[in-house]
Amino acid sequence: MKPSDFSCIASEYEKTSLVQNSASDALFELLAIGETEYVMDLGCGTGHITKTIREITGGKIVGIDSADGMIREAHQNYGHLGIDFEVRPAHHLEYFEQFDVVFCNSTFQWFKPPEPALRSCYQALRKNGRIGIQAPARNVYSPNFIEAVGKVSADTSTKETFEQFESPWFFCETPEEYASLFTEAGFEIVSSKIEKITTTYTPEEVFGIFDSGAAAGYLNQSYYKLPLTQEYIDNFRSIVRSSFIEQANEDGKVELTFFRIYLIAKKS
Ligand SMILES: C[S@@+](CC[C@H](N)C(=O)[O-])C[C@H]1O[C@@H](n2cnc3c(N)ncnc32)[C@H](O)[C@@H]1O
Repeated sequence: MKPSDFSCIASEYEKTSLVQNSASDALFELLAIGETEYVMDLGCGTGHITKTIREITGGKIVGIDSADGMIREAHQNYGHLGIDFEVRPAHHLEYFEQFDVVFCNSTFQWFKPPEPALRSCYQALRKNGRIGIQAPARNVYSPNFIEAVGKVSADTSTKETFEQFESPWFFCETPEEYASLFTEAGFEIVSSKIEKITTTYTPEEVFGIFDSGAAAGYLNQSYYKLPLTQEYIDNFRSIVRSSFIEQANEDGKVELTFFRIYLIAKKS
């Protein structure tokens, strides 16, 4: 398996992104998209959630993602639904007062640092437009993933290389810290809360979930100060997989916990 980024995992993403998909339900409820509103799906991935947005509004929809592999897949699958899919980074959207809603699911943690992306979203929104984010929150964003990666950092086969990993993500610890990022960018906060969400999966499903997001950071050459070897990647994956098996309860299931920020803000 080659080092991961989102373009590499695009073809598998829809099958494995169970957690991102279910976490988006609450974001839909909070944003209550109207049936003619213009919506930007920021960090749209392969477009399966953008398709759900299409079922709600007849307005213009643009799916944006920085990974060209994701956008290719999205365009192939859902381009015929009258959705534009574009490769752009969040900090350089180049839209000005065109959207009623910016919908951003399971992506905000990648905007490091977040300020330029927030300024760009602010510009893209019309007056009274709103932005909604759902994303992993807190440094221990998932105790299960942190435990598994802790094993990688301790194992003699991976320890040395893992020390050269620089996290591509940023997390805040409280809803207030998230809120202040948005107010500093000009937004008015509608709501901000961090929820602890626990769901039960088989260890193999948890590994798939890990592969659909976290692996694009932990196994991405861009975030290491030395070249990654195939041996490191294989060892990393096998340690993480074993850890999820060890985390299973008597029924063979893992209680997978994520802390998630749900924030809605408005451009007044
Ligand atoms: C975990 S996926 C979420 C995809 C989709 N929103 C979902 O909920 O299933 C994160 C996506 O964010 C994209 N992404 C990461 N950094 C980005 C950036 N700076 N600008 C735009 N997209 C970005 C990745 O390419 C990836 O497709």
